[in-house]
Amino acid sequence: MIDPRRPGRYERIYAQLRGLIEGRSPNLIAAMATICAVLHHKMPHHFWTGFYFVRDENSLTVGPYQGAVACQVLEGRGVCLHCVRTAQPVVVPNVEEFPGHIACDSRSKSEICLPLIKEGRVVAVLDIDSDKLAQFDQDDIAPLERILALLNPYV
Ligand code: SME
Repeated sequence: MIDPRRPGRYERIYAQLRGLIEGRSPNLIAAMATICAVLHHKMPHHFWTGFYFVRDENSLTVGPYQGAVACQVLEGRGVCLHCVRTAQPVVVPNVEEFPGHIACDSRSKSEICLPLIKEGRVVAVLDIDSDKLAQFDQDDIAPLERILALLNPYV
């Protein structure tokens, strides 16, 4: 575990987001924006927190996010597209060691990306960057998937 305070933080964030989103968010974008805002401001290791939508099999477009200005389109390669193609979470302890990584901001050092799946197809990804190395591991996957599941009624 990277930070023993993180499980408690995920619990509190989930409870807050559930209260904000469940039966209350008017649509997918509003729910996504709410997830970004709460996660980004409550998780000190987050440098960038946001969503990319699948545009076609080779490209993604940016959705709601918090943090430094990001690439609006990701094309052909990268962590996010790898997540879409495998439909699995991707944990990248050092972005420089991930072949094809796209650096929207050179301060990003580690990254985690999770798919949002509707009827077996990845429709978007949640992407989180840290400006420090090795800030994500397998323990982040289940709590982030639980948060993503709040989007299911809106997808
Ligand atoms: N690093 C990502 C690009 C998105 S930014 O991190 C915000 C990638 O390689 O797909």
